[in-house]
Amino acid sequence: MSYNLLKGKRGIITGALDANSIAWKVAERAHEEGATFVLTNAPVAMRMGEIKVLAEKTNSEIIPADATSVEELTTLFTKSQEVLGGKIDFVLHSIGMSVNIRKNIPYTESNYDYFMKGIDVSAMSLHKMLSVAKKMDAINEYGSVVALTYMAAQRTYPFYTDMADIKAMLESIARSFGYHYGKDKKVRINTVSQSPTKTTAGTGIKGFGDFYNFADSVAPLGNASADQCADYCITLFSDLTRMVTMQNLFHDGGYSSTGVSLEAMSKFGDE
Ligand SMILES: NC(=O)c1ccc[n+]([C@@H]2O[C@H](COP(=O)([O-])OP(=O)(O)OC[C@H]3O[C@@H](n4cnc5c(N)ncnc54)[C@H](O)[C@@H]3O)[C@@H](O)[C@H]2O)c1
Repeated sequence: MSYNLLKGKRGIITGALDANSIAWKVAERAHEEGATFVLTNAPVAMRMGEIKVLAEKTNSEIIPADATSVEELTTLFTKSQEVLGGKIDFVLHSIGMSVNIRKNIPYTESNYDYFMKGIDVSAMSLHKMLSVAKKMDAINEYGSVVALTYMAAQRTYPFYTDMADIKAMLESIARSFGYHYGKDKKVRINTVSQSPTKTTAGTGIKGFGDFYNFADSVAPLGNASADQCADYCITLFSDLTRMVTMQNLFHDGGYSSTGVSLEAMSKFGDE
């Protein structure tokens, strides 16, 4: 169902790799809600070509940009405004990658070059994007930037390794930059802390399947899907949430506030 929540709004959506990507669902919903936007991803991700299907479906242009490159991000914001015909109203940061996770390296033995790469791609990229946008004054008043995160930033999940620290930094950047960008230009910055979701990045984590089922059995509403995450992001891009900024918002079916569920507890019963 469409509510025209983003009618007339212009956006930039990062991170749509394939139809499972959370960003892919956000793009589909933003299109339904009347937004126009550009899609962007790292040039290497373009090779898979699937993003073209999404671009066609949503009438959007693709502007490749490596989110670690200030130069490429500057081109992204310049071209996006040209293509869309004005300043930007919303940005989705949906970018995550840990080489330590990819290579199955235990947290206590983290490779520091890989760690730095993970920070640059998954957290510092948000700072770079915001800094580029602010310098160019590319985002409208009450524009909304949303970055996706995970609760391992607050509580330990052993398999999430260096990404836990990286997400903590991402959430902190959203708060810190949110202050300055809010004061100067009334731009809003929030993170959405999403349930485990079956995507390329998600399923790349060791033991993801077991953990997905665990979280689903703990959360009173069960795990939130990528489609539901997209719905939530749309509300945050809309004018209905104009005073929400600098928040880490849990979108997890109640998982983060639940100590234990009866279903999970029953697995350990001795009766
Ligand atoms: N899947 C989950 O369980 C889950 C849960 C909570 C939060 N998240 C977060 O959601 C976001 C999106 O991930 P997803 O699960 O949709 O997986 P995904 O693999 O579909 O998306 C990750 C995206 O990051 C892009 N990317 C990697 N390096 C980049 C770079 N240098 N420049 C630009 N883009 C780059 C990839 O090309 C890909 O499109 C990530 O931040 C992830 O940490 C995922």
